[in-house]
Amino acid sequence: MNLQSRDKKHIWHPLTQHQTAALPIGIVKAKDALFWDEEGNEYIDGIASWYTAMYGHCNDHIIAAMSEQMRQLDFIMFSGFTHEPAVRLSEMLMKILPDNQEKVFFNDNGSTAVEAAIKMAIQYYHNQGDKRDTLIAFEEGFHGDTFGAMSASGISSYNGPFEEFLLNVIRIPVPQVDTAQEVLEELTQILETQKCAAFIFEPLVQGAAGMKFHSSAGLDMLIDKCQTEGVLCIADEIMTGFGKTGRNFASDILENKPDIICLSKALTAGMFPLSITSCSRAVFDGFLSEKVSNAFFHAHTFSAHPLGCAAAIAGIELLLSEEIQENISMIHQMHSNFASQLALNRKVIDARVQGVILAFELEIKMDRYGELRDKLYRFFMDRGIAIRPLGNTIYIVPPYVITKKQLERMYEVIELALEAF
Ligand SMILES: Cc1ncc(COP(=O)(O)O)c(C=O)c1O
Repeated sequence: MNLQSRDKKHIWHPLTQHQTAALPIGIVKAKDALFWDEEGNEYIDGIASWYTAMYGHCNDHIIAAMSEQMRQLDFIMFSGFTHEPAVRLSEMLMKILPDNQEKVFFNDNGSTAVEAAIKMAIQYYHNQGDKRDTLIAFEEGFHGDTFGAMSASGISSYNGPFEEFLLNVIRIPVPQVDTAQEVLEELTQILETQKCAAFIFEPLVQGAAGMKFHSSAGLDMLIDKCQTEGVLCIADEIMTGFGKTGRNFASDILENKPDIICLSKALTAGMFPLSITSCSRAVFDGFLSEKVSNAFFHAHTFSAHPLGCAAAIAGIELLLSEEIQENISMIHQMHSNFASQLALNRKVIDARVQGVILAFELEIKMDRYGELRDKLYRFFMDRGIAIRPLGNTIYIVPPYVITKKQLERMYEVIELALEAF
């Protein structure tokens, strides 16, 4: 029996309607920007496996760092103990995160990083005797699948059955150049009438919404307003972090820096589940007290797992290397040239590029998880290109180690899709 048939017996996959979905493809091997299925077919990983494996699959530098760590110290609980990889990682992050960040709190995936951020914001005010029960978030934002993170997410296809159990969240549209003032006025009204703890947002690029971009000047205005009114700002950089926008973090493009930042995905380069919620000194200080109950009573068993920290340290070393920085520029340049070409095609709407992210919409109506979308997905997979269209949005976020030839092959297949659909 192959993997596919054995999988069918016991496994429940995420985001899958098992009654109608095609069987998952059994993957047996991956290296750099490529992976192979059990039939021997080769695929280019066009979205770096949910934007994680940015330095390429099975990266030797990261494997070496993790193997060494595994022999030295496998795991130790992180309450009452600390270890070299966690400390070293915190020191490295402080060198590249926005200047106002001073403390890191460890979690084990993107959703739990967001969950910790939301709880931090609520308790920060609670510790001052200030009960704040509302969050502000962007329409169509996505922050994860646990209850707090899901509450902040505006993508309704995931939230349906849970709506009435969610936290109190008020949504505002993302600011575009011509709507920023309007959004600011909307935010101002909300801040005047509600007791808001935090404004949470995906800075500059909303990934799950379909790689939608918004104005950095507009977002700066919203952050400024919140911070002036004493509302904490949480940047969810789980997708955008570690080079994808062309800068180490999307927050580097902003003038006003968030109080709290969520990191995961490329943090460990796809090698280990780990996440971080970083914060400013002021947020951390809000938990200092003679009262134990003012502390942040939140923990995950695998907090700051040494293997994850070792992977993250090696990942950041790669991110900062000349070679990866040059590749990021190369991908950006090639994307920009291709986007200009796409813009001339009448089937293409809004071809856009930010860093290594390229996205556009096909001028065809498609459900997010409909039949036509699945046909488009298969079109790419049959030609060895692993990308996952979101409805009619086609996007690529390739590993930084992708070769020019592999990138050109992806563009070529996208052009074939434009002829076929
Ligand atoms: C911006 C953003 N936040 C949070 C998450 C949730 O991360 P995880 O799937 O690791 O829980 C995601 C995942 O796609 C994301 O893109």
